[in-house]
Amino acid sequence: MESHIGNFEELKICQPSLRLQHERNIDMSKIAIIYGSTTGYCETVAGKIQEAIGKENADIVNVTDLNESVLKDHDVLLLGTSTWGAGDVQDDWFSGIDLLKGADLSGKKVAIFGCGDSASYGDTFCGGMKALYDAVKDKGCKLIGSAPAEGYSFSASDAVVDGRFVGLPLDEINEEGKTQGRIDAWVKELKNNL
Ligand SMILES: Cc1cc2nc3c(=O)[nH]c(=O)nc-3n(C[C@H](O)[C@H](O)[C@H](O)COP(=O)(O)O)c2cc1C
Repeated sequence: MESHIGNFEELKICQPSLRLQHERNIDMSKIAIIYGSTTGYCETVAGKIQEAIGKENADIVNVTDLNESVLKDHDVLLLGTSTWGAGDVQDDWFSGIDLLKGADLSGKKVAIFGCGDSASYGDTFCGGMKALYDAVKDKGCKLIGSAPAEGYSFSASDAVVDGRFVGLPLDEINEEGKTQGRIDAWVKELKNNL
């Protein structure tokens, strides 16, 4: 009886370190979905992207919680922002962009996604994605996940470079019904490039 109690105590002592080790191993191979969101749309689509990838393979991180360890421990970064002002990145990303610029991203794969409103802001549609693109494009990482501009109703966007969006634009305000199909197609393409 006493020896059983002894074993149980031993297990309790061992468990936390075993769990940490296990988590560390998983984290190294995982994707980080890092998003900035003011009213919740970009947060929602980050969740949909995680579902499409498979929850066990991707961590979701609000950019307000972003730190150097998150960037270091993930080989694939999916960066998401809604667009505010006139084509600007979502506010919470300001310090996140500084972190990206100061980090060693060499060897990583990076993709961008964004939320916008193509009806009310058709001349700056999802322009906030451009700030994320500019932050990482010369950092030695491989940019994946650009998207065709066809199929969207907008007149201009800084996030269109060489005829393609630098990432996946989503419009939860006017085209919510197209979001899942757009995410599924994008994630399928991403998986081909991982
Ligand atoms: C004041 C204001 C400015 C906005 N500016 C833009 C813009 O320039 N381009 C765009 O595509 N969407 C713009 N939007 C729309 C938001 O990006 C859109 O509502 C988005 O879904 C918000 O996502 P969030 O809740 O994750 O922040 C703007 C919305 C507001 C209220």
